[in-house]
Amino acid sequence: MALLEILLEGDPRLRQKALRVRGVDDSLRELARDMFETMLEAPGVGLAAPQVGVLRRFIWVHVPENFHDEGGPEFSIALVNPEIVKAHGRVFGYEGCLSIPGWTGEVPRAEVVTVKGIGLDNKPIRVKARGWGARVLQHEIDHLDGILFLDRVEDKSTIVQVPEEETVEGPVEAAD
Ligand code: NI
Repeated sequence: MALLEILLEGDPRLRQKALRVRGVDDSLRELARDMFETMLEAPGVGLAAPQVGVLRRFIWVHVPENFHDEGGPEFSIALVNPEIVKAHGRVFGYEGCLSIPGWTGEVPRAEVVTVKGIGLDNKPIRVKARGWGARVLQHEIDHLDGILFLDRVEDKSTIVQVPEEETVEGPVEAAD
C-alpha cells in the first residue's frame, strides 16, 4: 500500500469529468486500498479518485461510528460508478476538502440520498444514507463531475479560513 498525493485546487484534473469504470479489476482494487490508507491518514471521511489524479468514477466514504457525536453507526463504503437515484430534504452544513486546505463554508445538501453503484466485488450496491453519510456521498460524487464544495456555497459570507492542518475531507462541525 502507498500514500497517494492529493491534488490541490487549481489542478485542472480536479475540474474534469471522471470516466465510468468498465468492470472492477485488480488495478482498481489496488487504487482503492491506497486511497483508503490515504483517506485515513489525511484524515478524511471520504475521498474521490480524481483527488489523487485518477479520472475514474470511484469514491470511498468512511464515516466512523458516532462521528461528531451524532450517535450513528459506522458508515463505510467503496463505490464504483456511484449515482444518486433519489434525494430529498435540504440541510445546511459546513464542509472541508483535502483539495482546498485551509477553507470551510456552509453547503446545502439533500438530507437523505439513495445511491447506486458497483462494489469492489463487481456486484451492484444500493445504499440509502442520511446525515453525515449523505453529505459525504454528495461531496465525493461531486468530485467525479469536477465540482468542489465551494462552488455550492450559497452564502459566501460563510466561507472562512481555518488552519490548514485542521482541514478534513467532508463535513466539519460549525465553528462558533
Ligand atoms: Ni473534497
